[in-house]
Amino acid sequence: MSRTIFVTTALPYANGSFHIGHIMEYIQADIWVRSMRMSGHTVHFVGADDAHGAPIMLKAESEGITPQALVARYASERPQYLNGFNIRFDHWHSTDTPENVELSQDIYRKLKAAGFIESRTIEQFYDPVKGMFLPDRYIKGECPKCHAADQYGDSCEACGAVYAPTDLIKPYSTLTKATPVLKSSEHFFFKLSDPRCVEFLQDWTNGTNAQGTRRLQTEVLGKTREWLGAGTDASQANLADWDISRDEPYFGIPIPDAPGKFFYVWLDAPVGYLASLKAYCNKVGLNYDELLEPGNSTEQVHFIGKDIVYFHALFWPAMLKFSGRKIPDFLHVHGFITVSGEKMSKSRGTGISPLRYLEIGMNPEWLRYYMAAKLNARVEDLDFNPDDFIARVNSDLVGKYVNIASRAANFISKHFKGELAYLGDTAALQNELDAVVQAVRTDFEHREYGRAIRQIMAHADHINQAFDTAQPWVMAKGIATATPEQQAALQNVCSRALAGFKALTVMLAPVLPALAARVATELFNDAAPYAWSSATELPARIEPFKHLMQRVEPKMLDDLFEPPAQPVPTPGGEAIADTIDIKDFAKVDLRIARIVSCERVEGSDKLLRLQLDLGEGRLRQVFSGIQACYQPDDLIDKLTVVVANLAPRKMRFGVSEGMVLAASHADTGVDAGIYVLQPWPGAQPGMRIS
Ligand code: 2FM
Ligand code: ZN
Repeated sequence: MSRTIFVTTALPYANGSFHIGHIMEYIQADIWVRSMRMSGHTVHFVGADDAHGAPIMLKAESEGITPQALVARYASERPQYLNGFNIRFDHWHSTDTPENVELSQDIYRKLKAAGFIESRTIEQFYDPVKGMFLPDRYIKGECPKCHAADQYGDSCEACGAVYAPTDLIKPYSTLTKATPVLKSSEHFFFKLSDPRCVEFLQDWTNGTNAQGTRRLQTEVLGKTREWLGAGTDASQANLADWDISRDEPYFGIPIPDAPGKFFYVWLDAPVGYLASLKAYCNKVGLNYDELLEPGNSTEQVHFIGKDIVYFHALFWPAMLKFSGRKIPDFLHVHGFITVSGEKMSKSRGTGISPLRYLEIGMNPEWLRYYMAAKLNARVEDLDFNPDDFIARVNSDLVGKYVNIASRAANFISKHFKGELAYLGDTAALQNELDAVVQAVRTDFEHREYGRAIRQIMAHADHINQAFDTAQPWVMAKGIATATPEQQAALQNVCSRALAGFKALTVMLAPVLPALAARVATELFNDAAPYAWSSATELPARIEPFKHLMQRVEPKMLDDLFEPPAQPVPTPGGEAIADTIDIKDFAKVDLRIARIVSCERVEGSDKLLRLQLDLGEGRLRQVFSGIQACYQPDDLIDKLTVVVANLAPRKMRFGVSEGMVLAASHADTGVDAGIYVLQPWPGAQPGMRIS
C-alpha cells in the first residue's frame, strides 16, 4: 500500500554554517526518503532555518546588521552544501516567515483556550547596561561550590556542579560585564504538568504508529520513561511547566495579546516544520490542511539528534495534540559524529569541513557511502576514521561493486555488440536477486543502513566469486573462432554479472543517487531514478562502459583536515631591528584586552574578526590574520595584548581599530604557526604594558 510521509530534519540555527554533524543527519534522512520513494511512497521532505532567539539577535547586533540580514546570509549558503552532497529537500524554509507566525500563534491560542497556558511572575537576572533579561549562557561568575572563576550560569565546568544563575558568586553579564540585577516579569508557561498532558505523553511515547512499530527507539523510550515516571499513574510524573515566553528585546514571534512578549525560540522552531511544509504545499499546489488533518493517514517523521529529544518527545507532541493537530508518528534519533574518536563541539564542528571536503574534489558519494555503512537504527555515535574511510571506499565500494561492471562490460561490448543473453533458468537468478533486494529494502526502511550495506557487499562478493570461478578471461581467448556454445557461455557469465551489478546499483541508489543515475542512463539505457522493482528486471543490453568512480587518494584525507592549531615551528630567525630609546617605545600604547567575541570573516581564509574590551566602556573591532591557527571559540574570553593607538585601518570587511600581538617566524609565516600573546593571570582589560 502506498504511504504518504512527511519527513523533516532538525532545523539548524541560522547563525552558523553547516558542520559535518548537520550533513550526517541530512544524508541519513535523504537516504531514507529516497528508499521510501523507490517503494512508490509519496514523501514530502522539508527543512528550514531556525531563525529566532537571543544568540542570533546578539550576533547580528555585533555585526551591525539586522537579524534578518544575518539569517539571509546563512540561508544563502545552504544550497552549496545540500546540492554538494546530493541532499534533496523538496523545500527549505525559515521560521521567520508569515506561515510560521500564523501557525505558532494559532497553536498558542488553541493551547490557551484549552487551558494549557498559565502566566506567572518570575524573577530573573537582568543586564541593566544592555537593558535585557539574560539567558543563562550570558551569565558567568564564581562557582558556588568549588569557587572556580568564570563559570556559566547553569553549571560549573570545573567541578560539574549544577545550579541556578542566582547561586553564582559575583555574577556578571558576559555581554557588558555589568553585575546583573534581579528583576521580575510576567512569563507564560505551557502546563506540561497538567494530568491530561502527562497521560497523553505516556500514551504517545509508549505507543505504536500506523505501521505497527514503536514511535520511539528503545533508548529514547527509556529516557522518556525516566522523565515521565515509569508507571501509568500521571501523578508519578515530574514534568516541569515550560516557560515559553521571553521579554523584548528578542528576535522572535510576538505572543498574541501580550505586548512586549515573544515566543521562546524553541516554541516556534518545531512549528517551522509545519510552516515549511505549508509553504511547499502552496508552491506545488498541494492541500496542506488536508495532508495534516488529524484523521489523515499522512505519517509525520522527524530525524533529530540525541541532544534535542526532550523537545521532540515531550513538548512537540503535546503542543500538537492539545492544539488539535496531527501528532508525530515517528522520531528517529541519531547520535553524534566523532572524528577518530574525538567529540566535536556543537558550535565549531569537527576537523572535517563539509565545504573543504567538496572543494578538494572528494566525491560526495564516498561520504554518503561511508556514513551509510556506519549508521544503524540505534542512538549511537558515528566515528569518522580516515583509514576506515579509505578502506571502505576503495576496497568495498570501488573494489567490489564498481569493478564488477568494468570487468564484465568490456567482454560484452567487445564480443557481443553490447547484447546480453542468459543461459538456463533466469527465474532462479531473479529470485536470488529479489531475496537480497527485499532484505536490503527492509533494512533501509528500518534505518539499518549498515546492515543493508553489509548485505549488498556480501552479494557483490558472491557475484565476483562466480565471475572469477568462471574465468571469463580464459573463455574470451580466441572467442571469435570459438563454438556458438562457448560464445554463449561467455556471454552468459558476463550477463549474469551485469544483471547482478544492476541489482546492486538499485540497492545502492538511495545512498549513491548520482552514481546510480549514471549507471541507469549511461550503461543500461534505463530511466532514472530506479525503483526497487527495477532490481530484478534483467538487462538486455549495455552501452560501452565509462569510468564510474575514482578511488580515494590517502593524501586527500590529509588535505581534508584543517591545519593543526599548534603547528610545530620550523627553525629560522630574523635579525633584531635597530635600537630605539625608551621614548620611542613609549609611543606604542600596548593594552590588555579581553576577546569578547571572535569569528571567521566570510570571504577571507586568513582573518578572524575580534570584538575587544580594552576597559574603555565600548568594544573595538579588530581583524587579525590568525584564522589558520585558531578556532574562534578557543579565543573567546581570553586576554591578549593589543596595540591600542594604531591608526584605525579600513579593510575590505570593516574598520580595524588596533592590532593583536602575535608571535611568528617572519620568513615562514602561517605554516610555522602564529602564537597570540596571553598575559599572566591577574591582568585586567585596559592595563597598560610597559
Ligand atoms: O538544536 C538546534 O540546532 C535547534 N535549532 C534545533 C531545532 S529543531 C526544530 F525544533 F526546529
Ligand atoms: Zn565548581
